[in-house]
Amino acid sequence: MMPATPAARFDPEACYSITGGLSGVGRFLIRWMSDHGAQHFMVLSRRGTGSPRAQTFVKTLATHGVTVQPVACDGLAAKVLGAINLHAATYSLPLDFFVMTTSVEPVFAPATQSAYTAGKNFQDDFARYRRRLGLLVSTASFGLASDVGHLSTDSTAVDLFARNKVDDDRTSWISQQQAPMSAVNFVTCMDPAAMAARKREEAEADDADTMQNAADQGGKSAATRLRREFNEAIKTGPGERAKTLALVTGGIITAVAEVLFIEESGVNPGKAVADHGVNSLIAAELRNWFHVALGFNMTILYLLDAHTSINALAAKIVDAAAASSS
Ligand SMILES: NC(=O)c1ccc[n+]([C@@H]2O[C@H](COP(=O)([O-])OP(=O)(O)OC[C@H]3O[C@@H](n4cnc5c(N)ncnc54)[C@H](OP(=O)(O)O)[C@@H]3O)[C@@H](O)[C@H]2O)c1
Repeated sequence: MMPATPAARFDPEACYSITGGLSGVGRFLIRWMSDHGAQHFMVLSRRGTGSPRAQTFVKTLATHGVTVQPVACDGLAAKVLGAINLHAATYSLPLDFFVMTTSVEPVFAPATQSAYTAGKNFQDDFARYRRRLGLLVSTASFGLASDVGHLSTDSTAVDLFARNKVDDDRTSWISQQQAPMSAVNFVTCMDPAAMAARKREEAEADDADTMQNAADQGGKSAATRLRREFNEAIKTGPGERAKTLALVTGGIITAVAEVLFIEESGVNPGKAVADHGVNSLIAAELRNWFHVALGFNMTILYLLDAHTSINALAAKIVDAAAASSS
């Protein structure tokens, strides 16, 4: 006998707070919750409804009687401080649930994802801490959702997950018996077919969405695009060296931020790549990127040299390309 899957029902009178609910997995969760009765949401994010896509999302929900109150705020510092702040803010409230979205990484422990895995581990342990206090909490550990969220536009991260075998078949569900966690944590995969169908529906429903999807697709070839721009820039000659340098430095900053899952503002081009927490395993990932995006065969030793800043790396790449084109 198969146990019946419990049907989720949400209180139409309650207001549910979702951090990051205006994009990616968060949007999916809001649609799913509203399909199951929820009618009021408060969504925390840094940009609020700044993007046309977020505005369209809110308007579309409104036509179904679902209200979304966007709250633009930073300072949550997602994962660690975000969880602690939400815990403190809701400590004495009678919550229905307190769910943190984590991932399967603490289970698979991929070699190059130490920072991201540490954040997820914190959430899983923080959940157990809340449980010990007698408070409601769960962590939902999703598999790779490459149809929605930042990963749908970030080929560097998807390739990285695939190389580390974290890219599951996205059709299977990992049961609780397979997860080395208690009932506090559950590990699952989202249904990618349903997510993709939802995404298609939204794209057809709205021109703005369609345009954004096209932009997203463009993002998938970011490394190839940079390579094209770099080749063009090199042809402009030494007079435009400063512009070419800025292009390459910006590209490296983006790549380092993506591979470390940090904000670009956290990457200091005056410092070495290694200063940002890149170890030899992550450097192996980055080396591939340098080859694809800049046609440069970087050695791991040079990439991790503590005395070579990102600015110096960029200069070396530009000068090498200029020398070989002349
Ligand atoms: N995508 C996957 O495959 C996957 C797999 C496993 C787990 N997860 C988890 O699912 C969650 C969502 O992932 P996603 O792929 O949907 O990411 P995403 O597309 O990057 O969306 C993240 C959302 O969080 C908001 N946000 C980020 N930093 C914030 C801050 N400091 N304060 C307030 N809001 C902030 C962002 O809005 P602003 O930029 O406007 O702030 C955005 O709406 C994450 O916890 C992730 O770890 C995702």
